Amino acid sequence: MFSLTMLLPLLSFLLHLSRAFPVRWESPEEETTQVVQSYLERFYQLPRGEYRSGRSNGTSVVVDKLREMQRFFGLNETGKPDEETLEMMQKPRCGVPDNGDFMVTPGNPRWKHTNLTYRILKYTTKLSQEKVETAISTAFQVWANASPLTFTKISQGKADIDIAFYEGDHGDNSPFDGPNGILAHAFQPGPGIGGDAHFDEQETWTTNFENYNLFLVAAHEFGHSLGLSHSTDPVALMYPIYAAREPSTYTLPQDDINGIQAIYGPSSNPVQPTGPSTPTACDPRLTFDAIATLRGEILFFKDRFFWRRHPQMPEVELNFISLFWPALPDGIQAAYEDLDKDLVFLFKGSQYWALSGYDIEPGYPKDISNYGFPSSVRAIDAAVYYRGEIFFFVNNQLWRYDNQRESMQTGYPKNIASIFPGIESRVDAVFQQNHVFLFFIGPAYYAFDLSAHRITRVQRSNRWLNCRC
Ligand SMILES: *[C@@H]1O[C@H](CO)[C@@H](O)[C@H](O)[C@H]1NC(C)=O
Ligand SMILES: *[C@@H]1O[C@H](CO)[C@@H](O)[C@H](O)[C@H]1NC(C)=O
Ligand SMILES: *[C@@H]1O[C@H](CO)[C@@H](O)[C@H](O)[C@H]1NC(C)=O
Ligand SMILES: [Zn+2]
Ligand SMILES: [Zn+2]
Repeated sequence: MFSLTMLLPLLSFLLHLSRAFPVRWESPEEETTQVVQSYLERFYQLPRGEYRSGRSNGTSVVVDKLREMQRFFGLNETGKPDEETLEMMQKPRCGVPDNGDFMVTPGNPRWKHTNLTYRILKYTTKLSQEKVETAISTAFQVWANASPLTFTKISQGKADIDIAFYEGDHGDNSPFDGPNGILAHAFQPGPGIGGDAHFDEQETWTTNFENYNLFLVAAHEFGHSLGLSHSTDPVALMYPIYAAREPSTYTLPQDDINGIQAIYGPSSNPVQPTGPSTPTACDPRLTFDAIATLRGEILFFKDRFFWRRHPQMPEVELNFISLFWPALPDGIQAAYEDLDKDLVFLFKGSQYWALSGYDIEPGYPKDISNYGFPSSVRAIDAAVYYRGEIFFFVNNQLWRYDNQRESMQTGYPKNIASIFPGIESRVDAVFQQNHVFLFFIGPAYYAFDLSAHRITRVQRSNRWLNCRC
């Protein structure tokens, strides 16, 4: 799947800006003021009009609210509407405020019964009724699987959770804003409007990868209907920002399982569900599965995720592998960027795939025997391209493949340490930068200078993810 948004986050930010704010007569500064003011009013309970009045002395509640928002999203707590803060404010999201990092809504509202009912009061014109019903029931199933709750659809009478697609102002004091921006909102458990979920009819609702997948948004909103607040965990379903994910294989992340079970207790399933949890960039024990450069970016693979590090961007971005490449498996084991062919090769077991930019090339996966590996080699630990050669690391052995002749160099495999003195054990991941091989072994990386022919630096792996701990 290729998308401009993914390749060029900065450009997409500018596009978002221009889309969200077509032609206005205000100066850019006034636009910023309005973005910040309305965002903080909506999601951080900033009193109305506070931003303009508070700016003059700079110590106002606005600074505190900005800091609170920056803390929630893990941004630098500058208290200023800097670029990364404004960028975050442009992202499509849920309309429910971010109350801070409570998993459970303050006051702990919850349903007293577990056999809940729902009713779809008003359908969208963007999808067939059948597709809406499937998306909604699948979204409830996500929560049913992880808790003792059951959800029954009714078509008459008052349900616990009423579902409707509305446009603009729809009588609950929380108007929708047209395409993008706020996608939906839901109310905490309670009588009347309590538990109800509303979706912005002006969004394009889909059942696939395109924005916005109804199942994913509904599953998030129903978390609110059940008593959960926003989570600061970027992979949690209850994170306030929309993120496209593979809907057919969606599993509820661990953070949300913990949240729902904290309210309603464990699942009635004999086997308790477990979900993915985010690898923490600053876990000092963090190790990588594979690393590759890609046209100036560096991709760090770990389980179901990868981090992207862009040379011009300060932040490192964590993503699901399945979000970028639905056809790829989790747990990529080795990767390299072939600068002759402008392709990235990814390995798992005896299979490999080729990527052109962010697209998988047709005809893959292929078998690693194409490189001339004997059948005794069943998986590659790490790989790197350098000057027309691919260096493959398998256990304590190094193989060298000649890209021009398309064959393994004679005399290989050799012991890794005989070519790279000091690299004594299995290599998890390796990439090349400025004639230095960066070997990742467990939680440390070893910089091996190819001209000096020695290790020049050993540091924690997670420094590459901006961690200084
Ligand atoms: C800053 O301005 C706000 C709003 O006008 C006011 O409430 C607050 O007391 C002011 N703070 C200082 C330090 O002057
Ligand atoms: C839910 O369960 C309670 C207690 O078993 C029962 O009284 C009630 O009728 C049930 N409601 C529905 C909608 O099934
Ligand atoms: C946070 O601030 C520090 C110091 O001002 C800066 O070096 C760093 O790049 C900032 N981080 C982000 C993510 O903007
Ligand atoms: Zn939400
Ligand atoms: Zn509403």
